[in-house]
Parts: sequence; C-alpha cells; structure tokens
Amino acid sequence: MLKRIDYDVQQHTVYSAGRALTAEQAQLWSGVFATWAGAQKPLTVLDLGSGTGRLTPILADTFGGPVYGVEPSERMRQQAERAAGHPNVQYLAGSAEAIPLPDRTCRLVLMFLVFHHVTDRRAAVTEIRRVLQPGGRILIRSAFSDRMPDLLWHRFFPRARRIEQQVFPSLAEVTRLFEEAGMAVIGIDRVRETLAPDLAAYAQRLRLRAISTFEHLTEEETQHGFAALDQAVAAEDTPGPITMDSDLLVLGAPPA
Ligand SMILES: C[S@@+](CC[C@H](N)C(=O)[O-])C[C@H]1O[C@@H](n2cnc3c(N)ncnc32)[C@H](O)[C@@H]1O
Repeated sequence: MLKRIDYDVQQHTVYSAGRALTAEQAQLWSGVFATWAGAQKPLTVLDLGSGTGRLTPILADTFGGPVYGVEPSERMRQQAERAAGHPNVQYLAGSAEAIPLPDRTCRLVLMFLVFHHVTDRRAAVTEIRRVLQPGGRILIRSAFSDRMPDLLWHRFFPRARRIEQQVFPSLAEVTRLFEEAGMAVIGIDRVRETLAPDLAAYAQRLRLRAISTFEHLTEEETQHGFAALDQAVAAEDTPGPITMDSDLLVLGAPPA
C-alpha cells in the first residue's frame, strides 16, 4: 500500500517552480478546455484541487467566471492566493469529498492531476454531481492505469511507471463511478504539449522532483535515475523539444 501524498509536507516547496506552464502550454490548455466546455461566457467554473493556482486564472480568462479554486493543502492554497490572484477567482479551503459550494453552482468542473489523489472517490463524484448545473461538464486530466502513455522520465526511473500504474485509476473505474452517479462520458482527448526545449532543460526541471511519485522512490533509485538522465543529456547531440501526451476525460451531467 502506497502512502498518501500530503502536499503540505514536500510538494508545496517545489510545485510552482517544477510545474510552471509556458505561455504556449497555457494557451494550449485554454483551447482544449474551451473545445470541450463550449467557450460561452461567462461560465461558473470549479477548479477542484487547484493547488498553487497554476490553471485557475487561465480558466477565468477563458470562461469569465466566477472561478472557484478549491484546495485542501493550506500551503498550496496560500501560494495560489499570493501568486495566482485574479479578480474573478476565489480560492477556498475544501476537498473533492467536501466542496464548499451550494448545489448547482457550476457549469464546469476541472480536475487536473487530482483524481488519483482523492481518497473517497465515490463521495467526490457525489459532490461533483451536487455542485454541477444540469448539462454541466467535468474535465478530468489524468493518467489511467489501463492506458498509460509512454513517459520519458519513466525510462530513467523504471519503478515510477509501476508505481503510477498502481496510483492512477483505470478509465473503466472512473467511468463507472460517474455513470453510477448519473453522468455520462462525452469523450476522451489525447493532448500533446511541449514540456521543455531540450533534454537538458527537461532534466533541470525534473531535478526539482515536483512529481509526487518521487516520494514513493528510494533516494538510491532516484540518484541512479538522475545519473542515467545526466548521461543521456551529455549524449544528446541534436537537442530537440521534449513533448508529453496526456489524457483528458470529458463527462457531462444530464440536462434539466
Ligand atoms: C498534482 S497537484 C495538481 C494541482 C493543480 N490542479 C495543477 O494542475 O497545478 C494535486 C493537487 O490535488 C490536491 N488534492 C489532494 N487530495 C485532494 C482531494 N481529496 N480533493 C481535492 N484536491 C486534492 C493536492 O493537495 C494538490 O494540490
């Protein structure tokens, strides 16, 4: 059994630097969200598990808002309040299992790299259904254990892939939970984004260990992985951009 990751312990110290989005990534995700949500404005949006507010102001710019960023980690939330403020964004303490909003508040719910951290997934899905307006949409950016993409960093840290296969739910599991709560799958998108201009820049970013899976690896295997990565950087003779593919599952609440 893997330990639960508490972002108040370690990840909050590295997350903003290690996971900062480029302007190009921000624009990409804004476009993807608008494609699936419909870009009608204004939309009330819930960024569930908003962390440091990496995506929350982007949602406000894309959909107008109000946008609520709900986040259980106090330290992640404090950073969002300090560095990711926006006139139409409000950050709130809460969790997917206990969303501090009235019924039928939101037209759109985003969970970006959050669902796998949720302990009581059934309670979370019930809460999401409660706060969604009829016809509202849910966007879940996650890996799924039964369709894991080939991630570059897993090649250097081979046990990370096996750990993530345990940590991430399967697509069937997530779909079943939402369907049992009366919601339906609308589609699944595979999105390709550029993470870094070359392997050296990618390695420098990865060194911050702003991926919670690192907390499940031993220090020895982590050092071993970074040594292998450094060798690959030294051997890179034609540097090129590092890309990553990821899944976005789109679900909908029934119309009124
Ligand atoms: C990988 S971070 C993603 C943060 C943000 N969505 C982003 O993409 O930058 C995962 C976040 O989920 C939060 N989290 C963990 N358990 C949660 C829960 N039960 N409900 C809501 N958020 C949760 C963590 O505190 C953390 O901020």
